[in-house]
Amino acid sequence: MSTAKKEYKRVTVKTLVDMKARGEKISMLTAYDYTMAKIVDGAGVDVILVGDSASNVMAGYETTLPITLDHMIYHASSVVRAANRALIVVDLPFGSYQSDPKEALRSAIRIMKESRAHSVKLEGGKEIKESIKRILNAGIPVMGHLGLTPQSIYKFGTYTVRAKEEEEAKRLIADAKMLERIGCYAIVLEKIPAQLAKEVAESVSIPIIGIGAGPDVDGQVLVLHDMLGMTHEFHPRFLRRYLNLYEDMTTAIGQYVDDVKTTDFPNEEEKY
Ligand code: KIV
Repeated sequence: MSTAKKEYKRVTVKTLVDMKARGEKISMLTAYDYTMAKIVDGAGVDVILVGDSASNVMAGYETTLPITLDHMIYHASSVVRAANRALIVVDLPFGSYQSDPKEALRSAIRIMKESRAHSVKLEGGKEIKESIKRILNAGIPVMGHLGLTPQSIYKFGTYTVRAKEEEEAKRLIADAKMLERIGCYAIVLEKIPAQLAKEVAESVSIPIIGIGAGPDVDGQVLVLHDMLGMTHEFHPRFLRRYLNLYEDMTTAIGQYVDDVKTTDFPNEEEKY
């Protein structure tokens, strides 16, 4: 049993900032439902992200754009009921914060009130600064998200590594500093060069949590279904698969089908 598993003190935004200060790495995974969140929390993960990647892995959409605020609240409230220890962060979905700061605040309040999660995450830098400030002013902790921001996929055109050119890298560093200055407690950096991520992590005192951003950041996040090997057709370089559940589940379910067809299941002990 890991040390994290034994103590059930709730992780807070302050815990994460303290972890960075003492050089302790932060573990973060996504979860979207009660059963998986219970396992993730029980295994000692520090932060559970109810990501809008639910749009892909739970709903089967090609992008994160279609998922709605109501869907996110449904997923988040299931996760909140499961997790005793992890800090729970919920993505504000596409279309729930981009129009104006008031709309952003209304969306964040709905998430906090209706799901009872602990924090929200928004994608973007200076273009959404006023929205983030408005949410922070209401006392809602905000995690930023820079680099590859999947809600802007139609602007980028591809899911390739971001900020390889100097100009975009400079903008990203400036955005990270701005997010720290206005009061964000952490930032996700997605799919950027490892050297740039290191530079960002060294230039701010809030935790930088990477996905495809190399080892020199303050923590790592992965999509749960990817690291468990359930989404076998997705294999970016940064992804480490800890299981091959796609194959294991296919084998188990195939066995069940055979057992039913051959009347092996249920047997004498499996009936009343
Ligand atoms: O939605 C999500 O799962 C995310 C992670 C990839 C960081 O934002």
